[in-house]
Amino acid sequence: MSVHDSMVPVELAEFWLFGYGSLIWKPPPHFDRRIPGWVTGYVRRFWQASEDHRGTPEAPGRVVTLIDRSYWAQLTDHHDSAPEKVWGVAYRITADRVDEVKEYLDIRETNGYSIHYTPFHPAEGVDSVLLPQAGPIRALVYIGTPENEQFTGPQDPQKLAEHIYHSHGPSGPNREYLWGLEKSLDALSLESGDEHVTDLSNRVRAIAAQQEKESGPADKLRAAYSLADMGTESSQHHHFRRAGSVDEQEETEKTS
Ligand code: BEZ
Repeated sequence: MSVHDSMVPVELAEFWLFGYGSLIWKPPPHFDRRIPGWVTGYVRRFWQASEDHRGTPEAPGRVVTLIDRSYWAQLTDHHDSAPEKVWGVAYRITADRVDEVKEYLDIRETNGYSIHYTPFHPAEGVDSVLLPQAGPIRALVYIGTPENEQFTGPQDPQKLAEHIYHSHGPSGPNREYLWGLEKSLDALSLESGDEHVTDLSNRVRAIAAQQEKESGPADKLRAAYSLADMGTESSQHHHFRRAGSVDEQEETEKTS
């Protein structure tokens, strides 16, 4: 029996959404549970071009997608290892707002991402009263598959870091997305770090430090404000939070 077979019938299931990118620190509207945990069978990589959030159509930035692990294993990737567990968070959407949120998310499903469902494993120690059942929960996840036009495939880490350092989009600098992901992953669990994300973050920090050394005081001031504006959360204890309004979400960021 597969793990899918062991789960409750789809029509009785609650609506859960798994976030492995900016959804970790920028939640969707109308959730009433936020549970840290992981999925398997995937590898997280900055291999999705972003024309609408962290870049522009003329100069796309880079955001994360999940690569099917068996497909990734056939590729040559400079980051040649990846954690078995892809950590993130699952959100339960309040029953009366599911249709509204699905519509909201479907609108956001632009720039190459498509909808998939995967078993989500809550982190050890999550109070069982917060969960619909023992064992994995069926969760919706947005994935930019290799067939989508924004999929970049493997990239040299230093070139990728430089690309991220220089990219900006309507949701802000690409580097803030990268550092926001690093910080929010670190806050989920002692084992939720992702070497691909950490290595890129370190490389971009080194580029930023070098740029700061070479640039004038005005640039330094801008860089300082940019870092201070990060505003990510870093609590490991936010497993249960009240829903926010759609308007509030719109003010922060769309979902990629
Ligand atoms: C996320 O997990 O944050 C996410 C990934 C792809 C599209 C939208 C959100």
